[in-house]
Amino acid sequence: MDYVYGPGRNHLFVPGPVNIPEPVIRAMNRNNEDYRSPAVPALTKTLLEDVKKIFKTTSGTPFLIPTTGTGAWESALTNTLSPGDRIISFLIGQFSLLWIDQQQRLNFNVDVVESDWGQGANLDILAEKLASDNSHSIKAICIVHNETATGVTNNLATVRKLLDDYRHPALLLVDGVSSICALDFRMDEWGVDVALTGSQKALSLPTGMGIVCASPKALEASKTAKSVRVFFDWNDYLKFYKMGTYWPYTPSIQLLYGLRAALDLIFEEGLENVIRRHSRLGTATRLAVEAWGLKNCTQKEEWYSDTVTAVMVPGYVDSSEIVRRAWKRFNLSLGLGLNKVAGKVFRIGHLGNVNELQLLGCLSGVEMVLRDVGYPVKLGSGVAAAAAYLLNNTPLIPSRI
Ligand SMILES: Cc1ncc(COP(=O)(O)O)c(C=O)c1O
Repeated sequence: MDYVYGPGRNHLFVPGPVNIPEPVIRAMNRNNEDYRSPAVPALTKTLLEDVKKIFKTTSGTPFLIPTTGTGAWESALTNTLSPGDRIISFLIGQFSLLWIDQQQRLNFNVDVVESDWGQGANLDILAEKLASDNSHSIKAICIVHNETATGVTNNLATVRKLLDDYRHPALLLVDGVSSICALDFRMDEWGVDVALTGSQKALSLPTGMGIVCASPKALEASKTAKSVRVFFDWNDYLKFYKMGTYWPYTPSIQLLYGLRAALDLIFEEGLENVIRRHSRLGTATRLAVEAWGLKNCTQKEEWYSDTVTAVMVPGYVDSSEIVRRAWKRFNLSLGLGLNKVAGKVFRIGHLGNVNELQLLGCLSGVEMVLRDVGYPVKLGSGVAAAAAYLLNNTPLIPSRI
């Protein structure tokens, strides 16, 4: 379908791709450049240094790959593992399902640990598997930090603790697509070996850049990993890093300038403030859901996600209709329920460059649509609950203090 005009702004509240802030749009509005000129390597050098900060790593090596989150997955797997390697992977929603599918198609021996959609990764089962794996047949643990389909955040510190408790050498590969740069993420502290994200999520850039960060142990593993890899081979990047030219193939110049601007905004606000802002938006959204009398798909508080909330609707309502009407009547884009929870949940994305009043606008739109589909919500109830919380908890904007 062609782009369909609607007056005013589109209220983009899907959990990625998210709104791109004006300074980033302006930074990307430029001509192509010769990436072999001295300017692009100089820019790239600063990006590689600065991007490590959002992973909270000093020892990791980042790769800025022209791809999406799916390609970043493939890069993490093929550079560190060999076909037939046993890996443990947690199935808790649509994105972990897709990653598992990729792992199986790449011929790894995937030991799938499944939970109900709405629950986090079953770490008791992980503990059992690690405890009984005396021969260290498990080569990697693959886990989605924040399952975007159900709004579930897994506890990575516990995963690291279990690996340490059992002195298990398995690599820890983490999908941080809807967490890094929005939720608390600590690559070095949690001993994450490969962490990855996509540009269209918390970084608030266009889609098209996969950002992968490898620990020294992961780089070491890449020297013996036998999976076939060409486009995603870290070694090609490392050769060009050494030469100081950085690019084995043509980068998107516009995305590089966009990333520079996006990182500058994040550092100006302060990464910890960015994380706190997401925590506020997540709490406010959950208060609204409660006020509407609806349930969060996420079954326990410990797994609540501060980047996306999956809202369950009563059986007589089709959640896809909520998403359709929100877009048609109010120019509001909400996330659909995916796969097992299709028709049962709709998702509110609250990640990236978004603020409190924007969220209240979204919540107000959701209320009207809920009424429109026959759910007897009191107009203003969720907005009031969220606003009361935000009024008491929103600090001054850091750059305006
Ligand atoms: C947690 C998670 N992982 C991976 C992906 C796949 O990313 P992409 O669509 O950029 O390939 C997504 C997409 O939404 C996601 O939310």
